Amino acid sequence: MPTNDPWFTVRDGHLYFDGAGIVEVAEGVETPFYLFSERRLRHNIAGLQEAFGGRYPRTEIFYASKACSNLWFLNVVRDCGINIEVNSGGELDKALRAGFEPRQIVFNGVAKTRDEIAAAVNVGVRALLVDSLHELGRIAPVAAEVGRTAAVAPRIDVHVPTATHPGLETAHGGKAGIDRDDAAEAFGRAAADPGLEPVGLHLHVGSQITSVEPYRQALANALDLVDEVEAAAGVRLQFLDAGGGFAVPFAEGPPAGADDYFRSQVSLDEYAATICGALAARRPDLALFIEPGRSVAATTGVLVTRVESEKSKRTRDGEGRVVGEERWLTIDAGFNTMLEHTNYRWYFRTIAAARADEPADTEFRLAGPLCDGGDVFAGDDDTLFRRFPAATSVGDLVVFLDAGGYTLEMMNDYNARPRAGARAVTLVGDLVEVRRRETSADLCAFDLTSGFEG
Ligand SMILES: Cc1ncc(COP(=O)(O)O)c(C=O)c1O
Repeated sequence: MPTNDPWFTVRDGHLYFDGAGIVEVAEGVETPFYLFSERRLRHNIAGLQEAFGGRYPRTEIFYASKACSNLWFLNVVRDCGINIEVNSGGELDKALRAGFEPRQIVFNGVAKTRDEIAAAVNVGVRALLVDSLHELGRIAPVAAEVGRTAAVAPRIDVHVPTATHPGLETAHGGKAGIDRDDAAEAFGRAAADPGLEPVGLHLHVGSQITSVEPYRQALANALDLVDEVEAAAGVRLQFLDAGGGFAVPFAEGPPAGADDYFRSQVSLDEYAATICGALAARRPDLALFIEPGRSVAATTGVLVTRVESEKSKRTRDGEGRVVGEERWLTIDAGFNTMLEHTNYRWYFRTIAAARADEPADTEFRLAGPLCDGGDVFAGDDDTLFRRFPAATSVGDLVVFLDAGGYTLEMMNDYNARPRAGARAVTLVGDLVEVRRRETSADLCAFDLTSGFEG
């Protein structure tokens, strides 16, 4: 089986995830569907609590709900006793519906609307993480109108390079955060405004960060800035928010190079030692906020798909001469169900669920059902090909591992394909439905034909 992950087991050739037989589950559920594990979600959160909280007791974890904001999922997260980071009015609403207290919520975002700011201030979130000087100017009058003081934590671009996917790098220039040369002004303005209270400094270096070095640099830069802005603005901050970004190993084995961000070998302990160590050495009075998303969600879910078609096609050279042959498998999920596979060419390992004890030694191209030629999954080891057992064919279930984060969130109805549903294995091993699959009525629910007179 192409994984050493102990949460996957094989019995009679069938793949099990947290004790749930995927072939058996799929007998009663239409594919594609996501399958989550409550136990693994709790396990991941406990790991973060131990690594960070064990080292630095003033740690407060704010789960980055953009990774998965399903309400069942958020309820489990809340039940584990941690807090939540939201990135829009919609996520704020979902967090409140899942029972988080306003004091457990930090509100992020690079283009907050006036209404979103008003909702966050009104409800009394722990802090608004402010992305620009302009936004500070937008929050102050809202706070005055609402008659509340808004706790703010400017997000500073600490200018640290990372080796992650360029689309996931967020503190090395680019659109996120306030330029560090403007940090003193941001805190000064916040301190001078009676409607604002500067309570912390926020940074987020990016996602899937496979080395502790960017954190070491980011924390050093941020702690310098804390000294600088406290002196300039005459304030004392309460917390430093170090963001998220802790990487998940989507592929096994040692990384092929520094930018091989799918093969991370950095443990939570190593991230925690770097981040907590920096704070403990210089400012042990500050609370440490962290905002993990992927490291909470990714390994909690799999995507179960089915092979719907197969074919062989000859490959040709520039002159049209046949030079080889490719076997194709087409499954019922593409970038409508898992957008990450095309927008970031994200790699998720795959296993044929009913052939988990057969050698995965035959190369296939693996494609989604959409009309686009680009709806083709990246191959294993940077090739075009996925390895499956030779007999894999129509009807087989293909399971994508580590698919719990940034997947359900990004589904869409492209090609009028209903968005997938989701099930979860509970702590006691029951199977529950946590998101219903869309119907064809859902596909039409938002289209209005009343303006058509023909
Ligand atoms: C501000 C902020 N915090 C936290 C996160 C979560 O990052 P990750 O899922 O890599 O932990 C993100 C993700 O983009 C983010 O933008």
